[in-house]
Parts: sequence; structure tokens; C-alpha cells
Amino acid sequence: MRKGSGVTIGMKQYEVSEEYRTGNETIDQQHARMLDHTQRAYQLFTDENMLFKCADINKILEGLSFHTAAHFAYEEEYMREIGFDQLEEHIKRHEAFSRKLQEFIDRVPRLSLDTQDEMLGEVFEYLQEWWKVHITQEDMKYVEFAEKRGCSDRSEPLPHPAN
Ligand SMILES: [Fe+2]
Ligand SMILES: [Fe+2]
Repeated sequence: MRKGSGVTIGMKQYEVSEEYRTGNETIDQQHARMLDHTQRAYQLFTDENMLFKCADINKILEGLSFHTAAHFAYEEEYMREIGFDQLEEHIKRHEAFSRKLQEFIDRVPRLSLDTQDEMLGEVFEYLQEWWKVHITQEDMKYVEFAEKRGCSDRSEPLPHPAN
């Protein structure tokens, strides 16, 4: 088994494990960043020393929202370029995720000390499940499509969007 792809962005090392690897380095970096945000939600959820978590919850969700928009735009452009035949269906999944993320963001101002951990648990579980299923099942469909078509472009990814 190959090692995860380590990518340095700023001071941070992002890694994505084998089952999440699409082979497109740019997309793998973007996915690793989403998984890192998911992990941050879990760390915040289990942090018993922190009293007020709302600002951090907001930071994680806003960061995710920003990077998700860039990732989805990049991925959709890539799928369009290779002529992926399930593009519309895939875009709908992206849109559903973005709506759910916005719902979470909208709930943050109404959180209290009593409800913040409950929501964090919900956020973490949703993110973990969504990214796992989406990357390993849905994104892999365009990877397979590209490989079958012989248009897999593993050495020359599209230019990286602004971070
Ligand atoms: Fe996707
Ligand atoms: Fe993706």
C-alpha cells in the first residue's frame, strides 16, 4: 500500500489516506483540507477545557464553506473537461452539502453553553460521513470514468484555485 500523499500548505502538513486518493494531486490536497477541518470539529467536540466554543465552531464552518466552494468549483470544472456523464447529479450532491453547511452556520448564533457540544457532535458526524461517502464513492466515479476514457490527467492537474 502506498503512503498517504503529504502536502505542505503554509506550515501545515495535510495528508489523505489511500482510500481517499483520487490521484489528482490538487483534488487530493483539497480533500485533505476538508478532512482536516472535520478533524478539528472532533477535537473541539472532545475538548473539555474550553468553555465557550461558538467562535471556534464558526471558524471551522466558515473555513469549510470557503474551501468547499473553491473545491467544488474546481472539481466541477474538471468533470466538465473530461465530459463526465453524471455531472448534473454530482453537482446536486455538492449543492446539498453546501445547503447543509449553511444551515449549520445559521444555527451558530443561537447556540448556548448547553447546546454547543450537541451541535458540534452533529457537525462532526455529518462531515465525517458525508466526506467519506462522497469522496470514496461519488468522486471515485469520475476518477473511474477518466481512467476508462484514458483521459486521466494525474501529472498535470488544473491550476490550483486561490486559497
Ligand atoms: Fe465531489
Ligand atoms: Fe471532491
